[in-house]
Amino acid sequence: MSILVTGGAGFIGSHTCVELLNAGYQVVVVDNLYNASEKAVERVKEITGKDLTFYKADIRDKEAMNAIFAKEEIESVIHFAGLKAVGESVAKPLEYYENNIGGTITLCDVMRNHGVKNIIFSSSATVYGDPAFIPITEECPKGICTNPYGWTKWMLEQILTDLHTADPEWNVVLLRYFNPIGAHKSGKIGEDPKGIPNNLMPYITQVAIGKLECLGVFGNDYDTPDGTGVRDYIHVVDLAVGHVRAVEKLKEKAGVSVYNLGTGKGYSVLDMVKAFSKACGKEIPYQIKPRRAGDIATCYCDATKAKNELHWKAERGLEEMCEDSWRWQSQNPNGYDD
Ligand code: NAD
Ligand code: WQD
Repeated sequence: MSILVTGGAGFIGSHTCVELLNAGYQVVVVDNLYNASEKAVERVKEITGKDLTFYKADIRDKEAMNAIFAKEEIESVIHFAGLKAVGESVAKPLEYYENNIGGTITLCDVMRNHGVKNIIFSSSATVYGDPAFIPITEECPKGICTNPYGWTKWMLEQILTDLHTADPEWNVVLLRYFNPIGAHKSGKIGEDPKGIPNNLMPYITQVAIGKLECLGVFGNDYDTPDGTGVRDYIHVVDLAVGHVRAVEKLKEKAGVSVYNLGTGKGYSVLDMVKAFSKACGKEIPYQIKPRRAGDIATCYCDATKAKNELHWKAERGLEEMCEDSWRWQSQNPNGYDD
């Protein structure tokens, strides 16, 4: 039996494939390569010395998905495939709702037709909106999202929960990620954003490599220790291991479960600049800019529930996250492009 990983060629998906293969699982990847390169899949094989099956296909393509489920023996699905650029989602809401929500509905319909009712879903801390309390536990109410991307996660959590209510044979694990950064130790796979990065860490790494001149720090007047935004950065390999634990959780047939995956520690933008400068041995020039629309001051989690129920805890600290991000960026200045 195999685990189907949608979006398995992407940043978090490729790291998760490595951990699944290392844990002895058979892996089938479906990715339309909209925001990824097939090279990532090849490098997953190089890193692990193991094989996996790759399909270049779109999760919205029912015929293609039916054929894959007919051919492969799928036990559970880890569903990463989706569009994730917050700003772009504001400009292109229909595309985001259609790809993320439409795609997931098609995927679940095909799963149901083939009797596969186990799914792990990539959700996000964004569903908490401006969180009611910090550190954020899973008891914290879902909030008001500030962009269509966030709403797709918010609604998909509800849709998957409704699916279980209608048919209790469905087992659903909703994983709410905080801010994934870092890369595999080998430096062979990592985050490869197209165009100018939206997220802090890839922006910093591209300043360090000389592709961008100067980091803009979005606001220094927040109610935080140094005035810049505070986030819970988590090493992508820790996050990937969390998915392997979630696959094990699915075997308990626990219905719907939700977990925060973060470290429980908050770092400011300036903390990140400092830690990254140390890791790469260069100054990172930055300039204070106005606040970015939709940003909140502080976001970090309490990950106790994942520790107790998934037996998972983030092991890698900030220094290692920065060193590994830098190794990936410096060994692959143009990402997966030659
Ligand atoms: P990514 O863009 O690197 O990976 C997503 C993958 O899905 C890409 O490889 C893309 O080509 C593929 N894809 C998109 N639409 C598809 C479709 N219709 N059919 C098939 N493949 C499709 O992003 P990531 O950072 O690895 O994120 C993975 C998941 O985790 C996403 O759902 C994202 O929303 C979620 N998430 C990411 C973060 C983050 O900060 N990176 C935080 C919280 C949640
Ligand atoms: C982190 C901090 C910025 C860029 C986003 C999504 C969220 C989730 C993770 C998917 C903030 C500051 C950033 C820059 C800066 N993704 N910053 N200059 O906004 O916490 O979360 O990615 O689910 O849904 O919203 O992450 O990396 O964009 O920002 O000063 O050039 O860095 O203001 O304080 P964010 P981020």
